[in-house]
Amino acid sequence: MKATAWAPVNLALIKYWGKKDKDLNLPWNSSISVNLSSLYTITTVEFSKKYRRDTVIIDGEKKKNEVDRVIQHIERIRSQVDTEDRVKIVTRNNFPKGTGIASSASGFAALTLAATSALNLKLSEKDLSTLARLGSGSACRSIPSGFVEWKKGDKNNSYAKTIFSKDHWSIRIATIILDEQPKEISSTQGHLLALSNPFFKVRLKNINKKIIALKQAIKNKDFINFGKIIEQETLEMHAIMMTSNPPLLYFSGNTVFFIKKIFLLRKKRLPVFFTLDAGPNLHLFFLSKNEKQIKKVLDEDKNIKKYYISEVATGAHLVSDHLF
Ligand code: PMV
Repeated sequence: MKATAWAPVNLALIKYWGKKDKDLNLPWNSSISVNLSSLYTITTVEFSKKYRRDTVIIDGEKKKNEVDRVIQHIERIRSQVDTEDRVKIVTRNNFPKGTGIASSASGFAALTLAATSALNLKLSEKDLSTLARLGSGSACRSIPSGFVEWKKGDKNNSYAKTIFSKDHWSIRIATIILDEQPKEISSTQGHLLALSNPFFKVRLKNINKKIIALKQAIKNKDFINFGKIIEQETLEMHAIMMTSNPPLLYFSGNTVFFIKKIFLLRKKRLPVFFTLDAGPNLHLFFLSKNEKQIKKVLDEDKNIKKYYISEVATGAHLVSDHLF
């Protein structure tokens, strides 16, 4: 049987950094994210006797380390049913990979939904999120819709669910591509460095308060507080990355340059805030009423290679157009 799933990139507002259990992808802290409508993965999965071996094609290529990780996830799913069928997987991202835009999150969410549907396993949203987490931690947050919280939970209970619907608040997110080189150190490796950093313990001590404050800001649609919290949070995560051993410096010169520009725009009374993940590219948050002004700024900036403007999106779902 064949199935195709669409899944959004999710962008963390409160970050997942540091794994308590590296095999189960259990986080040290809960995290909050939004799904992005303009950045996504589409994956078609077919199990069939007609295939002699498992095949995985990601953006037109068969890259060994990525393929191995995909097949490992397929084994997890295939072991839930009694089948010898081989699989063909074709997956397409609509954005450049390895730039700190989490292709693994949308990728493993789409793969989980397409593969379980192709095998006719009817899983609940909670079970899909749990299963996607095993492929890549943050993938659990691309299953539910809108604003999402991944409660850290424990071994048997760590999954994400919607905290506010996608239509709750008409904020916009501009993802700006400043640099396209793949990152040198993956987040998988980076997560393992966090615990040995003394600042990490301070972070964990304070993070629940920050989560409560952010949820309150989203609930009240309090954009200024929302922006302050997400910026402090991303800078805190990057401070921990930079002071790890070895240090992780995901910023490029362009990143610093643009962050300063955002501070300046705010001084000129344009409310815009940023966050970034394990890579040099920035995601800007603004209100829909300021979209025109923001686009003007982005269009005039020569350092920006490309940008995508998103609304808050739905979660992973099945689609009828197959990729093969
Ligand atoms: O799911 P991973 O292992 O790719 O980790 C994601 C880590 C960050 O993107 C930096 C933060 C997050 O919460 O998404």
